[in-house]
Amino acid sequence: MLLLAGIAKTFRGRTGPVRALAGASLELTSGCLAVLAGASGSGKSTLLHIAAGLLRPDAGTIRVDTRDLGSLGESGRAALRRQMIGIVFQRAHLLPYLDVLANACVGGGGADAVRQALSGIGLGDRLRHRPGELSAGECQRVALVRALAGAPRLVLADEPTANLDPDNARLVIGMLRAAAAGGAAVLIASHDPTLHAAADRRLRMRDGAAHEESR
Ligand SMILES: Nc1ncnc2c1ncn2[C@@H]1O[C@H](COP(=O)(O)OP(=O)(O)OP(=O)(O)O)[C@@H](O)[C@H]1O
Ligand SMILES: [Mg+2]
Repeated sequence: MLLLAGIAKTFRGRTGPVRALAGASLELTSGCLAVLAGASGSGKSTLLHIAAGLLRPDAGTIRVDTRDLGSLGESGRAALRRQMIGIVFQRAHLLPYLDVLANACVGGGGADAVRQALSGIGLGDRLRHRPGELSAGECQRVALVRALAGAPRLVLADEPTANLDPDNARLVIGMLRAAAAGGAAVLIASHDPTLHAAADRRLRMRDGAAHEESR
C-alpha cells in the first residue's frame, strides 16, 4: 500500500544544511500496523510528511497504492490524500473556528458515525467545544477521529498518544488497530512502549534510514 524507496531530504536551514533523511526505504502492506521509533530529530516526522505528499524529497520514490507521488502535481497529491490518506499530525492542526464535531467531520465521515467515534474516545460531552477550549490530549483525539472518519487506506500518525494518559492512549491504540483490522496500512511515529507492543512491525530511524527491529 505504501512504498518508500531511497528517500533523501536535506533541509536548507538558516545556519546551514540539515540532512534529515539519507536513503530511507520501507514497504507497508494493507492491514499492517508499523511503529517508527528513533531519537528526536532523527527524521520520523519528515518521513511521514513525505509519505503524505506534503513535502517533496530531494531523491527517492513514493508510491501510495498504485500511484507514484513524484509524477503528481500539488493538486493531484491533494486529491490522493483526500481519497486514501488519513493523517494525524504531531500538532493537531484543528480549525480554530469549528467545534469538535465539525472539525472531526472534515475527514469526510458521516456526522452520526463521527459523533459515535468521538463518544467512544471520551469526547461525547465536548462536541460543541472549539479547539481553544480543549486540552492538548483532547485536540489530539479529535484529530485522530478526523483522520480515520473517511476510512482511509493509508493512515499516517505522528505521536498520536503523546499527550494522553494510559486509558486514553489505549483507546487511541484500539482505534488505530481497528483501522488496520479494517484493511488500512498504518504507519505511526512514536516512542510509546504500549504502542510498540501493539504493533505488527517495529522500525527505528537511524542515520537517516528506517531499520527493521526484531521482536
Ligand atoms: N523546515 C526545516 N528546516 C530546517 N531543518 C528542519 C526543518 N524541518 C525539520 N528539520 C530538521 O530535520 C531533522 C528531522 O526532523 P523531524 O521533525 O523529522 O524529526 P523527528 O524524528 O520527527 O523528531 P521528534 O521525535 O522530535 O518529533 C531535525 O534535525 C530538524 O531540526
Ligand atoms: Mg516528529
